Amino acid sequence: MRIDVVSIFPEYLAPLELSLIGKARQDGLLDLLVHDLRDFTTDRHRTVDDTPYGGGAGMVMKAEPWAQALAAVAEGYSGRAPGDGAKPVLIVPSPAGKRFTQAIAHELADEEQLVFACGRYEGIDERVLEWASEHFTVRPMSLGDYVLNGGEVAVLAMVEAIVRLLPGVVGNPESLVEESHSDGLLEYPVYTKPSSWRDREVPPVLLSGNHGKIAQWRRHQQFQRTAERRPDLLDGFDAGALPRADRTALADLGYDVVDGRLKRRADATED
Ligand code: ADE
Repeated sequence: MRIDVVSIFPEYLAPLELSLIGKARQDGLLDLLVHDLRDFTTDRHRTVDDTPYGGGAGMVMKAEPWAQALAAVAEGYSGRAPGDGAKPVLIVPSPAGKRFTQAIAHELADEEQLVFACGRYEGIDERVLEWASEHFTVRPMSLGDYVLNGGEVAVLAMVEAIVRLLPGVVGNPESLVEESHSDGLLEYPVYTKPSSWRDREVPPVLLSGNHGKIAQWRRHQQFQRTAERRPDLLDGFDAGALPRADRTALADLGYDVVDGRLKRRADATED
């Protein structure tokens, strides 16, 4: 996979040289380039922002440096002949974007090339995104309902979530299967030695050696945790393929199956 990141703070992306991502780069699984937006300005002060039309607080990123930077990146791609001739994906981190999820991380991990445009200040002149859609599939993406100072931290998170899904990046691919969000549920709790620690015991079923019972317990924990911490994930969950044991566990937690989907019973107790 090829990733390009455009930012006015290229140093912010330095952690992408570390750990699994750094190793993926060294191993040739990932080709990642960071570009300084200011290199695409033409004035003495390397200006990237200006005041907003219509007034208001803060500054807006100017269109032309972005167009120059993105055109240079796209130019680099034209010689690379992307697999099916599809446009590269341009991800624009923004609190006004669509919510980034594990499902989207999987989708993006299947792409050959991704470009990230890190906005700062009040954002990028909207016309850049209109213009860019001629050359890229533009996807504004939000990490969550809160505001960061710029796109860089969001890019660190998204790149990590995407790159760890590439074949060969995570040593044991099994560990990608049983983690939170891989099946729409939160992960079950985990324990390691010693079995007794400060008067706290590991749940006995995990010491039983009974793999069927352990799997059932873990599944129940997943439902319980998800119901407690993220009930939004269970509401409308596709219950079509759930085995009877799962349905019973969910009924105990206050969820019924209605038209093939989970629905929280109105009389279920609130925490
Ligand atoms: N830039 C600023 N806030 C952001 C957020 N919540 N998600 C993605 N990018 C952002």
